[in-house]
Amino acid sequence: MAESDPAHLDTLLQHTGIAKFDPDTGAAPVALPSMRTSTVRFRDLDALDAAHAARSKGERRATYGRAGMDTHAALEDVFCRLEGGDRAFLASSGLGAITLAMMALLDAGDHVLIADCAYGPVRTLDATVLRRFGVESTYCRGTVQEFESRRRPETRMLYVESPGSLLFEMLDLPALAEYARAQGLLLVVDNTWGSGYIYRPLALGADVSVVAGTKYVGGHSDLMLGAVVVRDAGLAKRLGENHYALGLSVSADDAWLALRGARTLPIRMKECARNALAVCEFLASRAEVARIYHPAWPADPGHALWKRDCTGSNGMLSVALKFDAAAARRFVNALRLFGIGYSWGGFESLVQLVDPSALRVHGYWPDDGHAVARLHIGLESPDDLIADLSQALLAA
Ligand SMILES: Cc1ncc(COP(=O)(O)O)c(C=O)c1O
Repeated sequence: MAESDPAHLDTLLQHTGIAKFDPDTGAAPVALPSMRTSTVRFRDLDALDAAHAARSKGERRATYGRAGMDTHAALEDVFCRLEGGDRAFLASSGLGAITLAMMALLDAGDHVLIADCAYGPVRTLDATVLRRFGVESTYCRGTVQEFESRRRPETRMLYVESPGSLLFEMLDLPALAEYARAQGLLLVVDNTWGSGYIYRPLALGADVSVVAGTKYVGGHSDLMLGAVVVRDAGLAKRLGENHYALGLSVSADDAWLALRGARTLPIRMKECARNALAVCEFLASRAEVARIYHPAWPADPGHALWKRDCTGSNGMLSVALKFDAAAARRFVNALRLFGIGYSWGGFESLVQLVDPSALRVHGYWPDDGHAVARLHIGLESPDDLIADLSQALLAA
């Protein structure tokens, strides 16, 4: 952050990635337009050579459309602001960003330790791509002790997600960062939950933060996008070269939608978090509810870590219900205001009935026979959402 920058992220988000004044008219649009282009036109060969020279020094300069122009650069700046990084690389989805981080930073013969609470499709990336390229993986709880007992001489990376997918298990990122540094390992964190606004892995010592912009940054369930953010110049160089080689590209319109979404990220996240806590209070009062998984909820085992490391929360929670599989299905089918769907971070409430096989790979899961529903609490009135949940519990 430059010394003259405003202190608050809320303010920075409104003043990052804005359009430059036209040197002739002295005017600029308030909202940067979507700059669609497949290639870049140069005034003369000196200008083209200067762009290549800057690129070879690691600066962001577009010489071809794949890298995008002002809209993409503005969004990269926003991701850097959010995550407290120096360079951001965009991908066409969150999973694409995870793939970029893994492919760029691991070599054949390397071993990666993966927290078992990571987003499920990471296992598919591992089984389908990483193994074929000679990278081996081991899964375990995301703690220093568990990682240390599985570390090998060729271990190169810790890959974690905090809070974890489905059950929102908080990991001790500062402890993991200290351990990774001591052992010469890279710590890569999926920060989609925090999206840079309520949780900042780079500031807590991680080397790489990966965000699915599809969720809270986009915020309106109308785009797919991912970003990899780093501070270290060596990591940025490696990511940049691989980003180029893999041909990763994001449509200007999706970058523009994500940029627009980022302006309202603070208020949307705060409102979703407030609504989620109201829903937690309601759920905690119900006899059908066995447990609530939401780190901002005081009874959650990760609450102390959440209070120490996060500056806020969001609308994600899971609820363990004292229902058999048939009653759990009746509950979900009876919901009227929650769409049945996988994503989250948008304006609307969503529900996913979690398959027990997806939970059994999480060491955090007590496997107590309860059905688990994951809820994204959106921007609806919490009173209406609670009324809907109440009637669905009754119907189940
Ligand atoms: C925690 C987490 N990381 C990454 C992703 C992948 O993002 P995308 O759907 O944009 O590929 C998701 C998607 O649900 C997610 O929940």
